[in-house]
Amino acid sequence: MEQLYKEKHRPQFHFSPEEKWMNDPNGMVFFNDEYHLFYQYHPFGTTWGPMHWGHAVSKDLIHWEQLPIALYPDEHGAIFSGSVVVDWNNTSGFFQDGPGLVAIYTSADNYPDSDRPRQRQSLAYSNDNGRTWIKYEGNPVLSDVNITDYRDPKVFWHDETDKWVMVLATGQSVTIYTSANLKDWEFASEFGNKAGSHEGVWECPDLFQLPVDGDEHNQKWVMLVSIGDNHEFKEGSKTQYFVGDFDGTTFVNNNPDEIVLWLDYGRDNYAGVSWSDIPSKDGRRIYIGWMSNWRYANQVPTEEWRSAMTLPRELSLTSSKDGVRLVHQVVPEINSIRKGSQGYQNLTIESNQPISFNMFSPLMEVNLEFEKRTSDSFGLVLQSSDDEKTVIRYDVEKEVIAVDRTNAGDNSFSESFAAVQEASLKIENDRFKLQIFMDASSIEVFANDGKVVFTSLIFPNKPYDKIALFSDEGKTHVFSLKLTELDS
Ligand code: FRU
Repeated sequence: MEQLYKEKHRPQFHFSPEEKWMNDPNGMVFFNDEYHLFYQYHPFGTTWGPMHWGHAVSKDLIHWEQLPIALYPDEHGAIFSGSVVVDWNNTSGFFQDGPGLVAIYTSADNYPDSDRPRQRQSLAYSNDNGRTWIKYEGNPVLSDVNITDYRDPKVFWHDETDKWVMVLATGQSVTIYTSANLKDWEFASEFGNKAGSHEGVWECPDLFQLPVDGDEHNQKWVMLVSIGDNHEFKEGSKTQYFVGDFDGTTFVNNNPDEIVLWLDYGRDNYAGVSWSDIPSKDGRRIYIGWMSNWRYANQVPTEEWRSAMTLPRELSLTSSKDGVRLVHQVVPEINSIRKGSQGYQNLTIESNQPISFNMFSPLMEVNLEFEKRTSDSFGLVLQSSDDEKTVIRYDVEKEVIAVDRTNAGDNSFSESFAAVQEASLKIENDRFKLQIFMDASSIEVFANDGKVVFTSLIFPNKPYDKIALFSDEGKTHVFSLKLTELDS
């Protein structure tokens, strides 16, 4: 294990499988003091293949223990994405002694004697904290002969209507079903044929409720929808979200149809969904995404394994002039890997004269607060002695933040990888905050307390060891800079 995790580009504090291919996070659930993370897994290769569910558990969302494969393909096909719920009241009848776990996933095969893909929803249950699973003999529990893309069930218990609710990706919409027992599902409504982005097939929906600005009396529902790769558009696969209301059967979008809200402005956060059954007294909605992009996921330059997850993030809703928006914060459990830090206060960056600092480790958290600038643009460069670099720049006039990875390291594996990732962002109260997490092959940037987020893979040939702050055509004042080393 020690040996494995020293490979080139191997993430140190992000979850990656010990070996072979991984894509979407699946079935995240909290049960008996453990966070479970299942994931799309191909145990026989480092590219996508017949899907299994891999499995890992954690006490703190940061340190993961890998467990044996949880679900294997069967007579109904491969095991595509899905969710896990705790069946507290034995509504399914699967559990004689107290609550257990039920997985609801897509069985993917072909129609008999045909190449046409068939996707149906199936169940498996576990009596031993997710260590072993029994497939339900009545599988599949939900199918539709008219639609090919029919997958990725996310299920939750809806108290007000006393029912299970499933959101399912159906072509380019989300179909909502309800059930009393997880086995018999009834159509409730369909959302999204006209709303949001339709740049690709819709996948991996999620639906959950959150207070706005922490106000328990003002709750809204958030629907996440991942959008598959489409070569007509440059960014590859990406994730959008909607904010609205939900009454147990129908989701109503609060924004006009043409408004598209992006979850992340980096290229590498896909198919993410949230944890089920985090105790309500805790009240956190924790999210994790697959840190890759279908455009080049099968080609990224790693050898023994492929892909990692994002850092786990708490999602919340905040109101702004434009409306209610999602913000991301890395979970505070990250504190367990913070080591020594160096802090600086009140630095002035003179026009066109960058200030550099050595970084004592390639695994770093950078916290920066800029203020009072007269410059055209300002920001920072993370770089190696080989001059490979990632540039994070704020353009004052355009009010755009960019994460430029065009010279970040190895780009050779895909024409689509080199990219300048951009988002609009207004500076509030003359302060501009950045929090950045650097692992061996990723950078996650949280701007202004997570209002804008970039998750970006990078493949430097040598680890970055320097940070330079710059201010172009005018001065920038830095209120504070803190460099914190992170543990693996
Ligand atoms: C999303 C996805 C899902 C599907 C799974 C297959 O990345 O395409 O829609 O269930 O991956 O591995």
